[in-house]
Amino acid sequence: MSGAGRIDSERGRDTLRAYDLIDKKKKGESLNREEIDFLIHGFVNGDVADYQMAAWAMAVCFQGMSMEEISNLTLSMAASGEMMDLSAIEGCKVDKHSTGGVGDKTTLVIGPIVASQGVKVAKMSGRGLGHTGGTLDKLESIPGFRTALSDREFTDIVNAVGICVAGQTKRLVPADQKLYALRDVTATVDNIPLIASSIMSKKLASGSDAILLDVKTGSGAFMKTQKEAEELAGIMVEIGRRAGKKMAALVTDMDVPLGMAVGNALEVREAIDTLKGHGPEDFTKVCLELAANMLVLAGKGSPEQCMALAKEAVASGKALDTFARMVKAQGGDETVVRDLSVLPAARYTLEVKAPVTGYVEHMDAQGCGAAAVLLGAGRDRKEDGIQPDAGIILCKKTGDSVKCGDTLAVLHTSCRERIQAAKDRLLACYRIGPVCPPVSPHIFSGIF
Ligand code: URA
Repeated sequence: MSGAGRIDSERGRDTLRAYDLIDKKKKGESLNREEIDFLIHGFVNGDVADYQMAAWAMAVCFQGMSMEEISNLTLSMAASGEMMDLSAIEGCKVDKHSTGGVGDKTTLVIGPIVASQGVKVAKMSGRGLGHTGGTLDKLESIPGFRTALSDREFTDIVNAVGICVAGQTKRLVPADQKLYALRDVTATVDNIPLIASSIMSKKLASGSDAILLDVKTGSGAFMKTQKEAEELAGIMVEIGRRAGKKMAALVTDMDVPLGMAVGNALEVREAIDTLKGHGPEDFTKVCLELAANMLVLAGKGSPEQCMALAKEAVASGKALDTFARMVKAQGGDETVVRDLSVLPAARYTLEVKAPVTGYVEHMDAQGCGAAAVLLGAGRDRKEDGIQPDAGIILCKKTGDSVKCGDTLAVLHTSCRERIQAAKDRLLACYRIGPVCPPVSPHIFSGIF
C-alpha cells in the first residue's frame, strides 16, 4: 500500500464508529472491507462491545449481506489470528469440511483413502457439540491417540504419512471463536452468510490449496432443506474461489444418521469396517464420492478415474494401512485395525424394540444425536467431558420394514441411570407407519 493510501485508511479508521456501521447494516446497506475490518478487529481487541457486535449480527439476519461483503467478512475473520503455513508440506494439500451431522465419521475414511493415493491431507478438526459428533472425540477413543500437536509434529506427520488430523489451536481465527459464542446466545447462528463466513474463515486460515465441502441437509443438519443447503454451498464455494482456492461442494443427506453407528468408539469401529470394504451402504457411498471429489480437486484425474482410485485404495488395503500409520504417528494403538477389542466398550447395552409393525417412515436424526448425548457420547457445553464408549448402533433406519418387537437399535453406555431417558428419546425419533418412503440417493447435488 502507498504511503498516501495508508494515511487515508488510518484517517478513515479514526472516523469509523461501530454505531454508524450497525445503523448502516440495519438500513440494508453493504459495509466495505475497511468497515468490516474495523468491526472485526475492534471486536477481537475489545474496542467494539459484545452488544454492538450482537446488534450487527442481528441486523445481518434481517438484511442479509452481499457476496462482496460476505467475502470480506471471511477474509477479515481469517486474518484475525494465526494463518497456518503449510509450505513445508510437499504437493497439493486438500481439505474437506462437513457442516456436521449425526454419525458423520467420513474424515476417518476419506482422509486415509485420499492420502493413500498420494494427496496430502492436513486436517484441522473440531469436537462435538450438541447433537453432532466431532472427529477429534472419535479419534481420541483410540487408546493413546493425540490430537494436540505442535505445528512441527503436524507437518512432519503429513509429510511422512500423507495425513494428520489435529485440533484447531486457539490462535486460529479468534474472531470466529468470539463471534460464534455470541451468536450462540443471541439467536443469530442460523444465518447463511454468518455460517458461510464462520466455516470458510477457518478453512482459509488452515492453509490447504483445495477444499471440498460436504453440506448436509435434513433433520440432523443445520440446513433443514436442500434449497438452503445449496445456497450455503454456493456461497462457500464462491468465497473460496475468490480467495484463490480450488473448491467443490456436495450436498448430502442428513435426514437419517449416516451409517449405523452413532458415538465415538462405535464410529471408529464402523470406519475401520468401511476401510476394510464392509461398511454400511449409505456411508460407503458418501465416503467414496467425497474421496473421489477430493482426488479430482488434487488433479488426480477425471471423476471416473478418481472414483476408481478411491475404490482401489479400499480394495487393496492401502487406505486401511494409511489409517494405521496415522494412528501410530499420532501416538495411538494401531493394532486397532486388526483387533477392535482395543477400543473402549460400554458396560451396559439395551435393545430398543419396535412398538408396532410397519415401515420406518421417518427418523429425527437430530433426536438420535440427542439420545446419544444422553448416553454420554456428546456434550451440551464445551467444558463437558464425554464417554468414548457410549452411543447407539442403529439396526433399522428410514425405509426399513419392521415387525412389532424387532430391535430398532442397541444403546451403549457405562452409566446405567442414563439409559431409560435415552431409550425414550430414541423411540420418539422413529415414525413407523404403513407407507414405505422413497429411497434416498444419499447425495443430492454438487458444485464442481
Ligand atoms: N459451523 C461453524 O463452524 N460455524 C457456524 O456458524 C455454523 C456451523
